[in-house]
Amino acid sequence: MVIKRPRGTLDFLPEETEKLQRIEKEIRDLCLYYNYGEIRTPTFEHTELFVRGVGETTDIVEKEMYTFTDRGNRSVTLRPEGTAPVVRAFVENKLYSNMQPTKLFYIGPMYRYDRPQAGRYRQFHQFGVEVLGADDAAVDVEVISLAVKLFERLGLKNLSLYINSVGCLDCRPAYKEELKNYLKENLQSFCATCRERSKQNPLRVFDCKNSECKKAISQAPRVISYLCNKCLNHFNEVCEMLELLEIKYLVDEMLVRGLDYYTSTTFEILAENLGAQSAICGGGRYDKLVEECGGPDTPGIGFAVGIERLLYVLSSNYEHLESSPQQKFFIVNVGEEAKKEAAKLVNKLRDNNLSADMDHMNRSVKAQFKFANRINSSHVIILGEDELASGSVTIKDMKTGREDKVEINNIINYCNNIYT
Ligand code: HAM
Repeated sequence: MVIKRPRGTLDFLPEETEKLQRIEKEIRDLCLYYNYGEIRTPTFEHTELFVRGVGETTDIVEKEMYTFTDRGNRSVTLRPEGTAPVVRAFVENKLYSNMQPTKLFYIGPMYRYDRPQAGRYRQFHQFGVEVLGADDAAVDVEVISLAVKLFERLGLKNLSLYINSVGCLDCRPAYKEELKNYLKENLQSFCATCRERSKQNPLRVFDCKNSECKKAISQAPRVISYLCNKCLNHFNEVCEMLELLEIKYLVDEMLVRGLDYYTSTTFEILAENLGAQSAICGGGRYDKLVEECGGPDTPGIGFAVGIERLLYVLSSNYEHLESSPQQKFFIVNVGEEAKKEAAKLVNKLRDNNLSADMDHMNRSVKAQFKFANRINSSHVIILGEDELASGSVTIKDMKTGREDKVEINNIINYCNNIYT
């Protein structure tokens, strides 16, 4: 029986991986321009981190985590998201004792046990940024602008940025009470999970995908009407600065996001042609998470972009993105002696940082040319007994058809010049 990949996972074959690399290059360049350093944390963490960080009564923790007991009887979880691990690393490595802010980015796989569908996978990849140690509205705008800039550079169109504020520990309790009252009065309109959550964590009722619940919650009081002065001022400043940078946005008063750590600013970027899974980027402030994870009182903000969704939206639109050099040499070789020479030559080309390959299947010359075409070789070097005897080879440009006679001793020089 053939073993298949687990449901909700993807294989990236070389052609797709090449696209991923182009996207990753844009990301890394942009992060460099914005002065964000890359962080790599483990793909699994102690389960407690996500229970405490993301929140016990969120969809992620209640239903979607890959949690298991390891051989040492510890409960560990494949990371469902990157913020809690970054905050854990910030605290554990005492990055708070450096001059702040700390600006980090990551690219890597995340795991959520959800029902797979287009744009929703059980292993998916996120590009995320996190800024710790600064609560200025200008930082919120910098973070949002980084996401917007990335999409611009990738050439994405038809995106919409939605923002909201979910308040802080000072103003949210009063709102929560109001929301609880509303939910209590309208309990019959909500599903069993929402009814349960209405008591413990009423904000999470906004995450329910059930259409009846969605309808009922749309009439509920909105958190933005309950913001304290500090939160309201912060929100207004964010809006003002977005306008200053000419970043278009819409306020979505229902945008509370599905993770418990958010405070004040929340935002999402939606792509028109993504269908049901339209969120390509989501983020917000989490000013209490560092403390929650055992560190000093430190504000934070960040976002994550779903790379698979990005790939989907880009579809075949990659031409403008920089790729690795396209020159690729293929050595067509005929006969035992030529084969040995070809092996030496391939080695030499590669030692000179040139992409090179040769036939290993004892194919006919015609079939070797066919294969060279199939792997997109830019140039073919023909090496047979005649060439060995005369000390020079023919190098054919596969695009233009031009053929040059080149001395064997001069091949590297010739190929290097094609590159420059
Ligand atoms: P999130 O909204 O859960 O936020 O995920 C961010 C993005 O990851 C989504 O907008 C989507 O593009 C992608 N994504 C999420 N789940 C899946 C899935 N099952 N399959 C494919 N793509 C998916 C977070 O994860 C927060 N940590 C973001 C953040 C960073 N907030 C502050 N800092």
